[in-house]
Amino acid sequence: MKPAILVTRAVFPEILQLLAQHFEVESNQDDVIFSPQELAAKLQGKQGVFTTASARFNSDLLRQLPELKMIAQMAVGYDNIDVAACSAHAVMASNTPDVLNETTADFGWALLMATARRITESEHWLRAGHWHKWSYNGFLGADIHGSTLGVIGMGRIGQAIARRSMGFNMRVIYHNRSRLNAEQEAYANNASYVSKEDLLRSADHVVLVLPYSTASHHTIGAAELAAMKPTATLVNLARGGIVDDAALIAALRAKTIAAAGLDVFENEPKFHPDFLGLNNVVLTPHIASASEATRRAMAGCAAANLIAALSGQRPPNLLNQDVWKSKG
Ligand code: DGY
Repeated sequence: MKPAILVTRAVFPEILQLLAQHFEVESNQDDVIFSPQELAAKLQGKQGVFTTASARFNSDLLRQLPELKMIAQMAVGYDNIDVAACSAHAVMASNTPDVLNETTADFGWALLMATARRITESEHWLRAGHWHKWSYNGFLGADIHGSTLGVIGMGRIGQAIARRSMGFNMRVIYHNRSRLNAEQEAYANNASYVSKEDLLRSADHVVLVLPYSTASHHTIGAAELAAMKPTATLVNLARGGIVDDAALIAALRAKTIAAAGLDVFENEPKFHPDFLGLNNVVLTPHIASASEATRRAMAGCAAANLIAALSGQRPPNLLNQDVWKSKG
């Protein structure tokens, strides 16, 4: 008999076809968002789950699922999965690193440029019929070329963003849990490692690409925003909760910083309604990895992890190696 799995959200049909070759699949092409109770009920008797970051996997849930062996997440970020609890319950977990690095870095630049050069704000103004004459000071923004880019969280996506800055003749500074090696710094446009304080003080454009955890909660709050240049832009591509959204709204209103570009929000898909009343913020619905090819690659990667795990092979992107070791 094939192992039983749940696919928690709608996914590409060919991925369901692939999964169906290996598993008894319960899918969710209606894309209902399951409550924790519904998720627990749906997962009864399942050995595997193909999920996105919108479902939460913690001890409470795992203790109700003695048959579950593998959580395959279709995302690089996995703050929705308590990996230590997975290990405690001998459940493997995986994510989808690397396949989205370049697409996410492209989007980081799209958001940075739209923010610094006021693209969405000016487009809304044009569409609203306000454009009657050119003016010398219409929608003045901040230059990208020749400026200083500050990257907080210099993992693979951060490095891909930094590398793209070569074409704009920028200086790159970064802050990270640990310093990169010389080769990685060279790849990232000769990025210089600095303290968070120095980065906030010196960068013209600050891009956040660090993973969310309790340690990175509100990495950017009122004090950090106050330390930035009044002409600076802030871009959050990482996760909601890394920025204190209420403090950011206050800073954007007071023009403590010039503008922000946000692809992620605290409590998304809900977000602070006051963002909607601000012109100096560009808002996108968590789409940094959303190119056709990359979302298909992410789904394929999650499926490959699930197929490997439930056929006795080590999943290529296993997050908790301890569970694998304890099997052997
Ligand atoms: C990721 O891969 O982490 C993206 O943010 C989608 O959740």
